[in-house]
Amino acid sequence: MAKILFEVTENQLETGMRGFPVGYCVTSRVDPEKGLFYKEHSIKELALLPPEQVIYLLMEGKLDDVNYNAFCEKLKNRSKLDSKVKDYIYELPVQSHPMKLLISSLTILGAFSGKDNYQEDCIDVIAKIPEVVAIIINHHANWGKTPESKPELGYMENFTHMLNIPGSPNKDLLAKVFKIFNNLHFDHGGGNLSVFVGKAVASGLEDMYGSLAAAMCALAGPRHGKANQDCLQFVQDVLAKVGQNATGDDIENLIRDRVVNNELIFGFGHAVLRKEDPRATIFYEMGQKHFSHHPLIKIALLLRERGVKVLSEIEKIQNPYPNVDAISGSILSAAGFDFPEYFTVLFGLSRIVGIARQIVYERCEARGGKGTPIIRPKYLFKNG
Ligand code: MLT
Repeated sequence: MAKILFEVTENQLETGMRGFPVGYCVTSRVDPEKGLFYKEHSIKELALLPPEQVIYLLMEGKLDDVNYNAFCEKLKNRSKLDSKVKDYIYELPVQSHPMKLLISSLTILGAFSGKDNYQEDCIDVIAKIPEVVAIIINHHANWGKTPESKPELGYMENFTHMLNIPGSPNKDLLAKVFKIFNNLHFDHGGGNLSVFVGKAVASGLEDMYGSLAAAMCALAGPRHGKANQDCLQFVQDVLAKVGQNATGDDIENLIRDRVVNNELIFGFGHAVLRKEDPRATIFYEMGQKHFSHHPLIKIALLLRERGVKVLSEIEKIQNPYPNVDAISGSILSAAGFDFPEYFTVLFGLSRIVGIARQIVYERCEARGGKGTPIIRPKYLFKNG
């Protein structure tokens, strides 16, 4: 007799499948109290490592071994885009949100580079996605032609090099922040919406690129990936209202007013976490250390302190703590990437790694290599 893991009660229907076990995730897990782990490593241990090494951990289960250098070479060798792919991306309309361009670009990339092999496509798409996203941003922002890719610079260093950010941002600092941002966003367990959608679409045997395009549609919504853009907007609005010299009490009053008016406090709460998101903690510490005088960082830090205080008083709130979106946009802005419209494509650039690897597991490794069957949950008929 198989062990009963979970019984579904009526009041759990129509609740977003919260907590329903569905399968196994071999890349990462989210502990409600301790937060994110990639394999057995906490995100805190991994945040400052080169992204290539963290990608290797997610792919191969090890941070380093005799094959690591060959893996990095493979990423470099497969990174450059076919000129036709670039041409098509440059033809995409720029009136819509850049996530729409990312979704379209993945199907374009698949049409030219897809090998109909989940393992090969997983590595290819991870290698190529920095150039895809750099072109999308330069094209959408009207920043001109993307410079020639230089994979020898390193994965995120090359991405930073390819962005034509106006002004003269400190690109070394920016690359450092992008690397950490990337590491923090690669994966977040098996049940977040984008990975779940990607795996569901792949369960019908759609290829890697189509499955990832679907996953990016899921990431684009404001309850998931676009929350990082909306949170920055919220911090900016709070700053505009209370000013640079606001005190904790000013922020607390603003939060209390919003709560009374049933308005959202952006960046607080999480479906799984019941403590402060350790990804947020990493960015808060970075803000305190490197950008403490930046107006957005000051406000984000005060929101962290007073938001928890006010929201903890409300009984029905299960998690009054900030998640990564509460601070990530302020850090990107303080580091010189003050372009919130592109925060969600940065999230996608990173999250594609975890989703692609989880698709490979479900298609090629699960159930002794047979793969999982097509997703087909049961819905109860209701008349009316
Ligand atoms: C994520 O990183 O995917 C978000 O925190 C959402 C989630 O885990 O459900």
